Amino acid sequence: GGGFVPPRTLVLIGPMAVGKSAIGQELAKSLALEFVDTDQKIVQKYGSIAEIFAGRGENFFRRIEAKVIADALAAGTHRPVVMSLGGGAVLDAGTAQLLADATVIHLDADLETVRGRILRGSGRPLLAEDPVERWRQLALARGPVYRALADVTLDVRTGTVDVLVRELIALL
Ligand code: S3P
Repeated sequence: GGGFVPPRTLVLIGPMAVGKSAIGQELAKSLALEFVDTDQKIVQKYGSIAEIFAGRGENFFRRIEAKVIADALAAGTHRPVVMSLGGGAVLDAGTAQLLADATVIHLDADLETVRGRILRGSGRPLLAEDPVERWRQLALARGPVYRALADVTLDVRTGTVDVLVRELIALL
């Protein structure tokens, strides 16, 4: 191995179901860094995302999401980690600001790439009804935010996780 160590924490952003968690996990493994999936952290602490949305509402979810991300970024200050964020996390102004200190990786995909995954159903409350159309709308609306924050963009339409991770490392 080359022993490449990125100078800053690597944060994966992008629309739902593009593979932020899967690619992040593999990327962390390849670089021998810790992997933090912020959605998973929320679930460990508060229960499933569907339950949080149903019981406490989206605004509550957004507040704890911002807190979990801020804590994880603070913990990564002295040693870089790889983090994957939920698709809507970057809409929080405080989160967006904190990402200035990280290397932000935007995973980009089209509807065809994610169609199967979102139709299978995945406990994503924002895709509970009319998932294909909702995904399309959210990806379109959030696209400019992802692009504005991105240091690196990776098109995930083609390639296995392994290949995409290798491409990504070459871009860092
Ligand atoms: C959301 C994306 C989800 C999860 C929640 C809300 C969003 O994460 O945080 O359901 O607003 O796009 P993934 O991007 O991992 O699906």
